Amino acid sequence: MRIDIITVLPELLTSPFSHSIMKRAQTKGLLEVHTHNLRDHTPYKQAQVDDYQFGGGAGMVMMPEPLAILIEKLQAERKYDEIIYMTPDGPVFNQKTANMLSLKENMIIICGHYKGIDDRIREHYVTREISIGDYVLSGGELAAAIVVDAIGRLIPGVLNDETSALFDSFQDGLLAPPVYTRPADFRGWKVPDVLLSGDPKKVDEWRHEQSLKRTAERRPDLLKNSDWEGYRY
Ligand code: ADE
Repeated sequence: MRIDIITVLPELLTSPFSHSIMKRAQTKGLLEVHTHNLRDHTPYKQAQVDDYQFGGGAGMVMMPEPLAILIEKLQAERKYDEIIYMTPDGPVFNQKTANMLSLKENMIIICGHYKGIDDRIREHYVTREISIGDYVLSGGELAAAIVVDAIGRLIPGVLNDETSALFDSFQDGLLAPPVYTRPADFRGWKVPDVLLSGDPKKVDEWRHEQSLKRTAERRPDLLKNSDWEGYRY
């Protein structure tokens, strides 16, 4: 998978992809992340990329031309499956969207700043808008990093133990069960006996029950209209 990120703050996007699983995905050649400084592609003087909004009002808007120039340059090099715009007014990102995007080959992600980007870019180039939640960040970079991380770890071969993503919270619409490690008795707080029983069937059943219980207690909204609605614990 190749992801091209368009930004005015490329520095913000170096660290998130330089460690741990994201780093491994790139070292293994399964993920390429390229950041492009929009200011390097503007035809305007003094690397200008934003301007006052028509109709008045506070806040600058990212101009269409630098974005169009850079998007078209990238499109001339390869075909893109998605051109994503990070924006608080898009549909909220979730595991289902992450799963779907993890199967794509090439994507562009546009990070907005100021009041956002000129709407003509959204209309004519953008194929998908993503919000990471109902709050406003000062730019789309941190949101883009979250989306790339969530997608990148799902690319087949990225996680060491391929099955581990299958048991993440949300993968089956439920929250993950509690997990424990050594020691089995920590200050008198004991690990549930079933996990020490050595009976994989019992362990699976217990984990599934715990997932349902946790989801019902913490995120009952996830059970609505799911296979588990009305399930008794
Ligand atoms: N840019 C600013 N706020 C954002 C959000 N909540 N999600 C995605 N992009 C954003």
